[in-house]
Amino acid sequence: MAKQRILIVDDDIDLCNMLSRYLTFKGFEPHCAYDGADALEKVHENKYDLIILDIMMPKIDGYEVCQRLKIQREYNAIPILMLSAKSTEEDKITGLKTGADSYISKPFEIADLLTSIRNTIEKSRRSHEELGIKHEISFHFESRFSYIEKVNELIGQLFLRTDLAPDEIWEIKLALHELGINAIEHGNKMDPDKTVNIFCHIYDDRLEFEINDEGEGFEVDNIPDPTDDEGICRDRGRGLFLVSKLVDSIKYLDGGSTVRLTRFLSGEGRVNGRFNKTRK
Ligand SMILES: Nc1ncnc2c1ncn2[C@@H]1O[C@H](COP(=O)(O)OP(=O)(O)OP(=O)(O)O)[C@@H](O)[C@H]1O
Ligand SMILES: [Mg+2]
Repeated sequence: MAKQRILIVDDDIDLCNMLSRYLTFKGFEPHCAYDGADALEKVHENKYDLIILDIMMPKIDGYEVCQRLKIQREYNAIPILMLSAKSTEEDKITGLKTGADSYISKPFEIADLLTSIRNTIEKSRRSHEELGIKHEISFHFESRFSYIEKVNELIGQLFLRTDLAPDEIWEIKLALHELGINAIEHGNKMDPDKTVNIFCHIYDDRLEFEINDEGEGFEVDNIPDPTDDEGICRDRGRGLFLVSKLVDSIKYLDGGSTVRLTRFLSGEGRVNGRFNKTRK
């Protein structure tokens, strides 16, 4: 079997060399890049099974490298493991929002890194195998972290299974982030024992997503009017306004604890512009 090829991206040359020797010893084929621009060049030239990506680097930083790769259909499927000294929960969330598959903080144990490398490659492989016409994902959230990881997986599926342009897929990702955060913060009130489910159905003419929380719902008739462009100037309450600009329809069910988004793949659903407000 061919060796799995790993790109190590870090401006710390000693760390690159150390990791490179270790991964060679563990049976991988490592390559090194010392800044973001170098990394992007190498990805164009070679096929990688995984990228280990530092964040703070000269020229192009790791967030940007990650986002530039994940937004392209050709490269979206390459798993990215961020390895960074930025170690707060917010840092991790920022990293995952750019599309990373997993995140390890420095300093790290080499054995943990190896486990994470293997798990990340395996998770990505499985996610590409589990393709069905009707794709459904359901999960138990422990943190905003795991929600964003699931959305990243789902986005990978959309790259594989639809012809949507990358920026359209990115719009769906933004919408799912906003609604997931609402489900976690307003619906489940940050209770870690409560679950958020995301379902994604891929039909011939449209995508449907349902995000469901265990909260009590809310007064859905008061959601912002998407034709009112003042919405974008608000401090809070911008989430639903933004989402309504990004999808074709948004509908609250179950008194507000489930939200269904529809995005048409082409044609009729879009002729009247982006948003066709339908809600109960
Ligand atoms: N799943 C939900 N469960 C309960 N209430 C919700 C839910 N989703 C939205 N809401 C209500 O709708 C309001 C508007 O949501 P929206 O996302 O537009 O703004 P926000 O979350 O308050 O602020 P932000 O601009 O940071 O997103 C929320 O403040 C909340 O009261
Ligand atoms: Mg919100």
